[in-house]
Amino acid sequence: MSRSDIINYLISANGYKSFLEIGVQGKINFSSISIDRKICVDPDPSREADFIISSDKFFEVNRENFDIIFVDGLHHADFCYRDVINSLKFLNPGGCIVVHDVMPYSYESQLIPFDKSYSSGSAAWNGDVWKAWIKIRTERKDLLMHCVDSDWGCGIISFSSVPCNMDIDDFNDGYYKYNHDSIMSSVNRISVDDFVEIYKNPLIPGAKKLSERKCYVTHTDRNYISVAENLVRSLSQFSDKKILVYCVNCTEDEVAPLLKYSNSIVRILDLLDLVDSQNIKYEDSGNFYVERANRRTYQILSTKVNAMESALEEGWDEVCYLDSDCLATPIVDEIFNWSGSITNYPLGTEGIHNYMLIIKDGKQIGNPFENSWPEPDNTLCLEWPMMEVFGISPERRGKYRTTGIMLMNHKCLGFIKKWKNACEMVERTFTDLPRMAPFHEETIFNVLLWMIGDGGLPLCYINVSDGLNTIKEFYSDSVSAGTRSWDEEVHQNRFFAIPEDKNHVKVFHGEKRKSEADKIISYLLDLKK
Ligand SMILES: C[S@@+](CC[C@H](N)C(=O)[O-])C[C@H]1O[C@@H](n2cnc3c(N)ncnc32)[C@H](O)[C@@H]1O
Repeated sequence: MSRSDIINYLISANGYKSFLEIGVQGKINFSSISIDRKICVDPDPSREADFIISSDKFFEVNRENFDIIFVDGLHHADFCYRDVINSLKFLNPGGCIVVHDVMPYSYESQLIPFDKSYSSGSAAWNGDVWKAWIKIRTERKDLLMHCVDSDWGCGIISFSSVPCNMDIDDFNDGYYKYNHDSIMSSVNRISVDDFVEIYKNPLIPGAKKLSERKCYVTHTDRNYISVAENLVRSLSQFSDKKILVYCVNCTEDEVAPLLKYSNSIVRILDLLDLVDSQNIKYEDSGNFYVERANRRTYQILSTKVNAMESALEEGWDEVCYLDSDCLATPIVDEIFNWSGSITNYPLGTEGIHNYMLIIKDGKQIGNPFENSWPEPDNTLCLEWPMMEVFGISPERRGKYRTTGIMLMNHKCLGFIKKWKNACEMVERTFTDLPRMAPFHEETIFNVLLWMIGDGGLPLCYINVSDGLNTIKEFYSDSVSAGTRSWDEEVHQNRFFAIPEDKNHVKVFHGEKRKSEADKIISYLLDLKK
């Protein structure tokens, strides 16, 4: 049975109407597919595809969903992996993906790069598509994956309503080393007869909904590992969702404490030009904070954008980014209830102020009402230099959003890539970073946002200024909803605000000490009972 026979069989069993082929070459397969609508993508102009661009580019601009997608582009594991993950986002309910070349013919046929001298005979070049296939099998319990033992291995992927696939340990280092037998036993091979039997009925149309994947994301460098660990620990108590912890330039030993929690997934991000300067300041209480006017701080904070991009590209449907110095409340998962408001940019949180202020030499700066009340003069805002760079007039300035808590989905990827590029551009171009982007990636986020809109989350956190006492105070009746630090003498200088609805508070922010975090978590656990 050829790849085309397999695709046509799936089309007729499911009544599919639309088909996308990634990597079309001489259209041998494409011209054999019978379906109402079919389009193809290939960056090589000689292939005369409908879209003469790479699949990555195609998925950035595409807005159409398909019933069946054939992944047969560049046979490198990382490309194939991205093609599958992107295809999943554009699949109609009940749809499926077919991946070609999952079963390499021999050791030579899967070598990267392609060795032309080897292929001069009749043998095919399968590339290391098998690595992508097995990686997805180990990562995605929500996907049903079979590989038909025909035409170099045709993998079929559909959403499943019951947990599938295998545990990560099942494959071990076989992922990296070629071993024919272990690959064959790990792809979930089925015969052609099995295929005909298993796929004769339509796939379950509702399965995609049942398997919606949501996760938390945070990021840290080696100085903040213990802080990120507090967050992971608190989430493990109040949520059953995973947290992806992106560790910037950390060693395996440094990330070890994070690996003991079953809700954490640790990823290392390598930042080649990270400045190695001291940017942490300790208070007498043992709490600490980053020094803002420091290049390393700018670099580390900018990588939060890389973390968001990477999580979405891994295929998570909805992602909630939390700064590592957040602690979950018992209702933390309710953040995802706001996802209906996402359009095409991540939702940042309303902050304590509607503009960003800093205290310099004992004086507040950045207040647009200074000497201009009641009309704001937005050129006094700290974001003004960056607004000028992006050509934004003072009137276009919207509400100031913080980036410590953000909610997003894959529709936000275009914005996130622009944000990441802008952070890199600003670092390369301006020597005076504290003036251009005093709140680093957050300043840049706001300015980019004002170019297209100003939606976001309500104020959904409080700043913890006095450890467990702040938490107790919050839950008691002594502070009422709607309190702002500047309203009441007692809260002066505490950077404190309580939303109009106390239930909006989903995380506590700013406590970094393990001992205090532990007290807070156990207090919240008692409260939950
Ligand atoms: C194995 S051939 C496709 C064969 C075709 N699907 C068939 O079955 O008849 C791989 C094709 O992928 C294309 N390709 C290479 N890089 C690509 C990319 N990044 N995105 C999409 N296609 C790519 C190549 O130009 C080539 O035409």
